[in-house]
Amino acid sequence: MEPYFTLNNNVKIPSVGFGTWQTPDGDAALNAIKTAVQNGYRHIDTAAIYANEKGVGMGIKACGIERKELFVTSKVWNTERGYESTLKAFEKSLKDLQLDYLDLYLIHWPAAAHQFDNWQQINSDTWRAMEKLYTEGKIRAIGVSNFLEHHLEPLLAKAKVSPAVNQIEYHPGCMQQNCVQFCADHNILVQGWSPLGRGKVLDHKMLQEIAQKYHKTVAQLCIRWALQNDVLPLPKSSTPHRIRENFDIFDFEISASDIASINQLEDLGRSGLHPDTIEF
Ligand code: A2P
Repeated sequence: MEPYFTLNNNVKIPSVGFGTWQTPDGDAALNAIKTAVQNGYRHIDTAAIYANEKGVGMGIKACGIERKELFVTSKVWNTERGYESTLKAFEKSLKDLQLDYLDLYLIHWPAAAHQFDNWQQINSDTWRAMEKLYTEGKIRAIGVSNFLEHHLEPLLAKAKVSPAVNQIEYHPGCMQQNCVQFCADHNILVQGWSPLGRGKVLDHKMLQEIAQKYHKTVAQLCIRWALQNDVLPLPKSSTPHRIRENFDIFDFEISASDIASINQLEDLGRSGLHPDTIEF
């Protein structure tokens, strides 16, 4: 069975999630989910803005595994922030996914100072809706995505329910250490999006040398490395053999010195998406 992390409300979350960003809706999403579940994934990560919740939902229905064995995440998009809009957005996601509850629901990006004077209030209003849905039992855990310390602090000051998760960009050469440490201090699990740096880190020479030692690919090394740093990786692939490859990471352990070498890698750059500069 896939190992799991335990969230701050005691909900168990399978330790590698299947990412679906840029997976096209319809048969592509359906088949990706079926392939992932057949290969052992039990944790599926989507979002309203990915525009594939219908296909993901069809995959969940068709995958042959009971709903309660799966962990399904979605996210409220930036245009739907605020109390009433978030409640509505949640219902739409649920309907598109053909589900009657979500395991995890996230605020996709924080409202931030470069776009809104009242950004703190907007985030608190969105969060109140998340808390209501959580209290009503429609979501098993609630969290945020792409929040940095200075977005989390005012949210935490007003929250009745503390976020269980913060999903941020995380891969070798992009560790966001201050944010990860803040989350650890506040008992918030960090999930890593783009754990392969969108494929950019795969031809890095040192990573290739380390991966070879373990007879693994660089993709597998990156996923395992995130886990060993207590970050839950969300690798994305639409290609069946890569979907399989990215889950085949439970049979080896990276040594402490190799983890340290990877942790010390130079800045390999990030996707370019930053919560304090995004324009969407
Ligand atoms: P594809 O979906 O065509 O398989 P990230 O999760 O860091 O955002 O990276 C996703 C990108 O990396 C996608 O373009 C995906 O392509 C590619 N990818 C996913 N898994 C692997 C792998 N094991 N080896 C090489 N490329 C991969």
